[in-house]
Amino acid sequence: MQSNQATETGKRNSLHGQWSSRMAFILAVTGSAVGLGNIWKFPYVAGQNGGGAFVLVYLACVALIGMPVMMSEILIGRRGRRNPISTMALLGAEEGNARHWQWVGAMGVLAGVLILSYYSVIGGWTLAYVFKSGSGAFSESGAAGITAIRDAFLGNWKTVALFHTIFMTLTIFVVARGVERGLEQAVRFMVPALLILLITLLGYSINSGHFGEGLAFMFTPDFSKLTWDSVLAAMGQAFFTLSIGMGAVMAYGAYLPEETSIGGSSAAVAIADTSIATLAGLVIFPLVFANNLDPADGPGLVFITLPLAFGQMPGGVFFSTLFFLLLSFAAWTSAISLMEPAVAWLVERFNRTRSEAALMIGLSIWALGLGTVLSFNVLSEFKFLRGTIFDNLDHLTINIMLPLGGVFITVFAGWVMCRNSTSDELGNTGNMYKLWRILARFVAPIGIIFVFLKAVGLLDYLSNQ
Ligand code: PHE
Repeated sequence: MQSNQATETGKRNSLHGQWSSRMAFILAVTGSAVGLGNIWKFPYVAGQNGGGAFVLVYLACVALIGMPVMMSEILIGRRGRRNPISTMALLGAEEGNARHWQWVGAMGVLAGVLILSYYSVIGGWTLAYVFKSGSGAFSESGAAGITAIRDAFLGNWKTVALFHTIFMTLTIFVVARGVERGLEQAVRFMVPALLILLITLLGYSINSGHFGEGLAFMFTPDFSKLTWDSVLAAMGQAFFTLSIGMGAVMAYGAYLPEETSIGGSSAAVAIADTSIATLAGLVIFPLVFANNLDPADGPGLVFITLPLAFGQMPGGVFFSTLFFLLLSFAAWTSAISLMEPAVAWLVERFNRTRSEAALMIGLSIWALGLGTVLSFNVLSEFKFLRGTIFDNLDHLTINIMLPLGGVFITVFAGWVMCRNSTSDELGNTGNMYKLWRILARFVAPIGIIFVFLKAVGLLDYLSNQ
């Protein structure tokens, strides 16, 4: 039974409609979660941070921090049924007498815009590889040849910009049409197909790669190699890959039917997402070692290892084209969710049509993205703080803005919202609710802040005084 309050808020409706079913919601969030983060980013960040220990910390972050943040985001979204900025303002006023919680929503909208500005460039890169694979460019070229193809592609800023433009256009197109139409269908076939192809590739890497070495690299933790900066990177990766901390899942939660279980849906998404990332790592690392490549090679890693594997496989041209096509799809369904909070806000707050809003936001993101396009060529030597423009955007959004968003979201759901509201949304089913509350009130916010302080060295500084 629901309390009066829930019935009252249950009457709140989203301007943008609702998911047609529980499955549709799970598919949409999975579509958001599964993307470049799993297949492009996870292997290279794990590689740069020494493997095993990083992977372990990442898994712990998914379970102990990612899950409660995701549940909090969905419950806040469903309760408010607006875009993340207005939802935080509304619930902030209702539950805590403070509209300034809307700044948490605003930071999320900004994070989405900044992330999409480079996400789209890598999405474009993936798209370009669909054509390169199709043309047979990768068959029979060895590691050196494939590296040369990649460097030539990245070196030419005009082509990189062209594919970034195509990717952004596709994203604007779907967001303008509204999330439900098209998106559900795309995810329904994309995630299983991606899974099947990854399993096929796994077979290849077990046979032809140095599988034992790859396995050991990924799962033998050497904690002496782990710095607090890598712990921060592992935590950031958990946020990024689950699409949390910036309101994407909150925006999707606003379209969630009343009776759907939030805990169950979150668990389903987290399991699907983590399995795909792990599988990607198991495919990539054996190939890295078999070909004497460097696991710490950086953002270009999958664009070398996978073409290399496909190049030696029977039917490689076909499979490689299909793989990059699926990866582009996966990136596309994630890109949509990065843009949704900003677009929903513009529509609700300024009475814009979805098309106008999508076009305005999309064009701004496209322009910002040129900074990343140039980071790989013309401006590759222009470095400050963490490196190129891309490196800085990447660090600022993933390692700082998303976890910070996570702190505020869990503090809001765990401390500011009253128990009745959260148990209405999560269903007061005993242990699950209690566990969520402990994680959301204590473990997640304290854990995130602790890692932050350790990574900037503040705790050590203070204790040495
Ligand atoms: N989770 C997506 C990926 O792994 C990226 C993303 C981050 C999407 C944040 C939405 C919000 O590729």
